[in-house]
Amino acid sequence: MGTTETDQSLRVLAEARGIGIGAAVAARPLRDEQAYRDLLAREFNMVTTENALKFGPLRPDRETFAFANADEIVDFALDHGMSVRGHTLLWHHMNPPWLKPGDFLRREWETILRDHIGTVVGRYRGKIAVWDVVNEAVRDRGDLRDSPWLSALGPDYIAMAFRLAHKADPDARLFYNDFNAEGMNPKSDAVYSLVKGLLADGVPIHGVGFQMHLASHHAPDSEDVAKNVARLNGLGLEVQITEIDVAIKGKPTEKDLQDQARIYGEMLQVCLAAKNATAFVMWGLTDGHSWIPHHRKGWGAALVFDGHYQPKPAYFALRDALD
Ligand code: XIL
Repeated sequence: MGTTETDQSLRVLAEARGIGIGAAVAARPLRDEQAYRDLLAREFNMVTTENALKFGPLRPDRETFAFANADEIVDFALDHGMSVRGHTLLWHHMNPPWLKPGDFLRREWETILRDHIGTVVGRYRGKIAVWDVVNEAVRDRGDLRDSPWLSALGPDYIAMAFRLAHKADPDARLFYNDFNAEGMNPKSDAVYSLVKGLLADGVPIHGVGFQMHLASHHAPDSEDVAKNVARLNGLGLEVQITEIDVAIKGKPTEKDLQDQARIYGEMLQVCLAAKNATAFVMWGLTDGHSWIPHHRKGWGAALVFDGHYQPKPAYFALRDALD
């Protein structure tokens, strides 16, 4: 394990290795906490909008685009020389109540899709470098997940979304993003077939995001993840780790923190060894800003900085991997 000094930031080391290093960011702490702003700009060169660009928060009603939070995040990033991942255009979750299957004709759904993607991607053209165009469309057993978009438009909604995003910003890198599809398994096979099919149809897709929501007692098999990254490379696609966190159950013991550190370090090593793995993004900045305690009762401490902005063993494991 490294030292306790933080003079060599992850950002400086990652830039030297040619990989993006990022965190998911919320507008409120960015506005309210100086320590949050300082740590973010020092340690990272990429941010993801955690919730600000999701359909529900952004579109409380059909006429409104509530861009204020996303604008603050994007402006902060660009002011600090960081790149932005836009998350996410289409998802089955966090949609507004007005977006209900059955309430519109197919033609109206197409209009809503076109307006949404054209307006959102168009607004940040040249500012948001990477988009998670479609999030979590595949279920663990490999079939497509139910969503308003699937019921309204059928499986073709995925290709439509990528085409519209490309039209709105031809330079943006467009990703399909999902969880539990990091290693080799039926779900990652289904994601592989999906993106291969999209490419065969000439759909503009540039990468696959691996969310990587993990737990400290269960390390993923590095070789398996490397194999999956390599087969996507075979299709000419990039891979980004988009939402990594390593949750710990209960009050973290020293062993939990070491296990967590090893997992973070190993996953970053897999990325550094693969030329098509271009970014490693954590889902939040500190344990005090993580979604895990809200989402999994009794779990937490999933990030590399603790609730007091102090680096944890996992932080030094990332530094060691980058060094
Ligand atoms: C989470 C946010 O972190 C929470 O604040 C929100 O309440 C629910 O969504 N996969 C994703 C992310 O793609 O958008 C999710 O983010 C976490 C799981």
